[in-house]
Amino acid sequence: MAEGRRLLVAGNWKMNGTRAMVAEFAAGLEAVSGVHLVVVPPSIYLADMALAFEDSSIGFGAQDVHTQTSGAFTGDIAAQMVADIGAQWTIVGHSERRAYHSETDEVVADKLLAALEAGLEPMVCLGESLVQREAGEAEATVGRQLRRIAERVGAAKLSQAVIAYEPIWAIGTGVTATPEQADDMHRVIRDVLDELGVPSGSTTVLYGGSVNADNAADIFAGENIDGALVGGASLKSDSFMAIARALAAAKHA
Ligand code: PGA
Repeated sequence: MAEGRRLLVAGNWKMNGTRAMVAEFAAGLEAVSGVHLVVVPPSIYLADMALAFEDSSIGFGAQDVHTQTSGAFTGDIAAQMVADIGAQWTIVGHSERRAYHSETDEVVADKLLAALEAGLEPMVCLGESLVQREAGEAEATVGRQLRRIAERVGAAKLSQAVIAYEPIWAIGTGVTATPEQADDMHRVIRDVLDELGVPSGSTTVLYGGSVNADNAADIFAGENIDGALVGGASLKSDSFMAIARALAAAKHA
């Protein structure tokens, strides 16, 4: 379970990938000292990944899990199933799940609980829209998301999660938050965590949104940033590795 503040790069393949890509990653990824690497393919490839990464220190996980352990939920996957395959992680509350599957903070909170119950490490995504940022509501939005989740799961459970700050306007757009914007928001998240009784000094907080091999070093310079949740640039093992190396270099891991 949660081991305190860690350096982490997670690659969210979203609805991309093939079995051949799993094999390519198994051959192309190598451990980076001091940095945890996690690959998050579509769930249908988790079994392939379990075989491909059997003797590896590289973790893998699901992009989503259901709130319930089993039952009549056609098309859904339970956290226990993800754990049963041998995965260690799951994302919960990605903005694309919130937008296209109407996930509320309450649903996200219940998914976080389901993940922990199954022994998975959840990465919980937070982030404001462009409209909210332009209205000066970025901090309030992310604070509200965190408080609503905390209200439902409690501080002890929330402290076992990794937090990913992903401004919606920066996801898949090629526009990243500036390093200052990203670090400021991570500071805000850490302040809210402390206020909620979740020790921010032992919570891993990632940035996500158009991170790539070229901008990673600048983003990782932020002292409040422990790594990245990467989408597009995680689809090639070489750019994923370059981001991981940039993290190690930035933090002198
Ligand atoms: P992106 O996606 O890196 O393609 O912007 C990040 C994410 O959605 O996790």
